[in-house]
Amino acid sequence: TDISADKWRGKPLSEMYSLFNPECKQLLNIEPGRNHTVLFKVSTSYGFSTIPEPHPAKYNDKWDGEHVKMPCSPSNLYPINANGNSSLEQRWKLIKEAFEGKQISTSVELEKAILSYNSRYNHIWNFSRFHEFVDQVLSQNEKKRFFYHVLPGIIRLAMEVPERVTGTPTLLMRYKTQSLSMSQSQISSLLANAFLSTYPRRNTQKRQSEFSTYPDINFIKLFENKSRSTAVYEKLKCLLHYFDRVITEEPNGVVTFTRQVVNDSEFPNWATVSETFGGFYVSSEGTIEKEGTGLLQMDFANKFIGGGVLNWGCVQEEIRFVICPELIVACLFTEVMESNEALIITGCEQYSSHSGYGDTFRFEGDFVDRTPRDAYGRRLCQVVAIDAIPFNRKETQYKRDSVNRELRKAYAGFHCQRRIPLTAVATGNWGCGAFRGDPRLKCLIQLMAAAVTHRDVVYFTFGDNSLRDDVYSMYSLLVEKKVTVGNLHTMLCEYGQQIGDSRSPSLDLYGYLYALLDSMDSEDGATDCSSLS
Ligand code: AR6
Repeated sequence: TDISADKWRGKPLSEMYSLFNPECKQLLNIEPGRNHTVLFKVSTSYGFSTIPEPHPAKYNDKWDGEHVKMPCSPSNLYPINANGNSSLEQRWKLIKEAFEGKQISTSVELEKAILSYNSRYNHIWNFSRFHEFVDQVLSQNEKKRFFYHVLPGIIRLAMEVPERVTGTPTLLMRYKTQSLSMSQSQISSLLANAFLSTYPRRNTQKRQSEFSTYPDINFIKLFENKSRSTAVYEKLKCLLHYFDRVITEEPNGVVTFTRQVVNDSEFPNWATVSETFGGFYVSSEGTIEKEGTGLLQMDFANKFIGGGVLNWGCVQEEIRFVICPELIVACLFTEVMESNEALIITGCEQYSSHSGYGDTFRFEGDFVDRTPRDAYGRRLCQVVAIDAIPFNRKETQYKRDSVNRELRKAYAGFHCQRRIPLTAVATGNWGCGAFRGDPRLKCLIQLMAAAVTHRDVVYFTFGDNSLRDDVYSMYSLLVEKKVTVGNLHTMLCEYGQQIGDSRSPSLDLYGYLYALLDSMDSEDGATDCSSLS
């Protein structure tokens, strides 16, 4: 890596167990079965040149509660009004009519086409951001490329969805551990449909509607985006660049999406966990996506996967999703996450370079991803999406229930059924930006969850030197005193009980922990500590 020696502490990054380790067996096999839907013909001799063949051979529509409702489904009907008579039409026919044989060369024409099969939203959807983007942000050349190369390609990819995605994707519903594998080429076709906002039943905001527990997938929100930030233009640039890439050269790898559910009985009893802390690297420089390659990379997620990616959001999750847009397809089929659930995505590729963060986020051109692939054609890249709790009141996060919830969530993300060596987790200030958590606490929580799941932790403090030094000192003392996860849990819960109590002296978390730890004898630390409670 390019991180200079004075910027990091702990176990060297190069010693961390990663997916690049030749013995690493961590990735789930792609074996179609009851809990793994595979939308292509599996081959284990990935060749770099052939595009995986869709499976089954012919389009097999499933219009039911367990599958994505596809735009091309024969059951997808839409009411139309003609001459005062209303009737139901095949929606896919309307969609094809909107594009077939038409040359769309302005954003207004695109708006018209999209509204022709979304007529219910005729005076509701607003494309002003998209018009602005096309007319004021794109250069003449970029505009030309969009209307004469990229958009026709998007339309072609979208219209070919019944030939490309012949099996209907299953919904990764709550409470069920389940996987879905598809080719990058299939993802491009699904995302092209999202760009054209063709997915049925996915536009209503009503609370009890069929897909109200799913994220948004149609791109319309991005086009009408109401925020004033120019970051949305940069997100659009990343997305158009992705389409340009996959249209110009069809990607030939595959991606697996796994919803991982940990049952109540499987969680450790935190207070009695006897594991001590594993390896820890902490750096004030570097990012999860770059220096964390080959590790289990954290997505600081929303419980609705993707968060504001198709809206105004532009922090860690949204940025990761626009530079690796294949992640966005998860919004199509991943139901809102419960506290004991995580989504693990294996094999996605990065297409865009970027700089900045939030309002300063910028698309910086093409990114050629050279991450090696496995025998199925998946990039050796694994992202885990877990959602922290947003805290409005600072004290709440230290309470036992909050600490336990975040521990369970992190455990759900880091856990692996098989007893094999596992890659380190690449993480950072999870839940401590938009969600306002305390990174000094969250770092300990992640270290605890990693210790019980037998993973090392690689932590990027995102420019914060004092955070790096604080967490490293705390970690070093915990190791020196042989403090167990259970001991630390007890101490955290005690602190949680006292904080907010007006009679107790206000001591910050680390000050409190130091006071306890310093009074411990390092010789028989672990036993001594339990007597403190
Ligand atoms: N690598 C390492 N650290 C990072 C990176 C990166 N690439 N990017 C940001 N950080 P935030 P949250 C640090 O606010 O609080 C989204 O809308 C940086 O210090 O994205 O869990 C989701 O959809 C930053 O302040 O995560 C959720 O709705 C901190 O990580 C919500 O935000 C936290 O990043 C989640 O908010």
